[in-house]
Amino acid sequence: MVSVLFKFLATTIKGMEDIAAREIEELGGCNIELKSERVFFQGSAKLIYRINIRSRCIHKLMLILDHGKAMSLDEVYHLAKSIEYSEVIGLHQTFAVRTTRVGKHNYTSIDVSATVGQAIVDYFNEVKGARPRVNLKNPDVEISVYIKDDEVTIGVNTTGESLHRRNYRVYDHPAAIKTTLASCMVRFSGWHGEEFLDPMCGGGTIAIEAALMARKFPPGFFRKDLAFTKLLFYDSEIYKDELEKALEEVDRSCFKICGFDLSPKYVNGAMMNASSAGVDDTISFFVQDATREDAYKTVNAKHIVVNPPYGIRQYRLRILKDLYTRFLKALSCSLSGSTLVLITGAPRIFEEALTCINCKIIEIRGVKHGNLPAKVYKIMM
Ligand SMILES: C[S@@+](CC[C@H](N)C(=O)[O-])C[C@H]1O[C@@H](n2cnc3c(N)ncnc32)[C@H](O)[C@@H]1O
Repeated sequence: MVSVLFKFLATTIKGMEDIAAREIEELGGCNIELKSERVFFQGSAKLIYRINIRSRCIHKLMLILDHGKAMSLDEVYHLAKSIEYSEVIGLHQTFAVRTTRVGKHNYTSIDVSATVGQAIVDYFNEVKGARPRVNLKNPDVEISVYIKDDEVTIGVNTTGESLHRRNYRVYDHPAAIKTTLASCMVRFSGWHGEEFLDPMCGGGTIAIEAALMARKFPPGFFRKDLAFTKLLFYDSEIYKDELEKALEEVDRSCFKICGFDLSPKYVNGAMMNASSAGVDDTISFFVQDATREDAYKTVNAKHIVVNPPYGIRQYRLRILKDLYTRFLKALSCSLSGSTLVLITGAPRIFEEALTCINCKIIEIRGVKHGNLPAKVYKIMM
């Protein structure tokens, strides 16, 4: 039997598109095409369930209804009007249109949402003689529009709120990294379950994501609000089946995963988060100073993934350079030969600090950490 191939768009971290694409491919996506912050691909309808349940690297999965070029709002309207909405929105359901716009346009995202909303209303009035209601707060169906320059993608948001909201965080660190970015960094490090360390772990996100990954625990399990469950074609049997399959693959073995932080309060918060994520039995958190060689005497990590402080407001430049230099020196003495993946929004300061040690830079990539530009380094210590 030939299964129908649907077109999808997954949004992800800018700079980590290839990592997200590899994950999508492993989950069954094909004909993959990378664009900034987006991965286009094709696959069966089951991917809606599977990716939302299992993905660690993507934010939202959109089932594409149409994709084309449009410069003006008029052209956006015509593209939107040509879609058969009755297959995705029931007359009894409510809908909302949300737009993400990247590039320069002489209209706003709100204008685009209103235009596409009007096209949907006009379509239903013409074809069905009636129309579904709009509910901007809590719609049954969210039509997503993604505009990058003159490229317009219109689809159905199958995820709802971004998948980076894993729902296991019970303690909020003030500078927590996005779970999806943490997962992309762990993958980028090439880690496959060997001893692992985040020496400035804050609320523990990187270590927790690593533990969930090693155990193959599906992050979607924590989500009770995935948007596809409200869509017309939702099949609860397929959802149950995909969730069961994912849970059957969970590996309860223990991995050596470790996190340090200078602050007892953050270490305590990290422990609470790990317990809430069900991985506290495979992560050890310690109050330690990552700039001291003796912090590493009982660890033999082959992979170190870290998000050190870089907020210029929090740490004055000189203090930051000193922190990075002392940290790198301690690491290169204690864990030489290991792979370090580090994110910083202060790359110049970090690169100056790097000149103080002998190491090999394997790759540097620009990423977006929230709205801040940052760089991720992969280094052989
Ligand atoms: C950007 S935060 C990490 C946030 C973390 N990735 C999360 O998601 O919650 C940086 C952390 O480094 C810690 N830190 C700063 N200097 C340190 C040192 N010398 N040793 C260990 N931790 C340190 C801070 O206490 C802070 O929690």
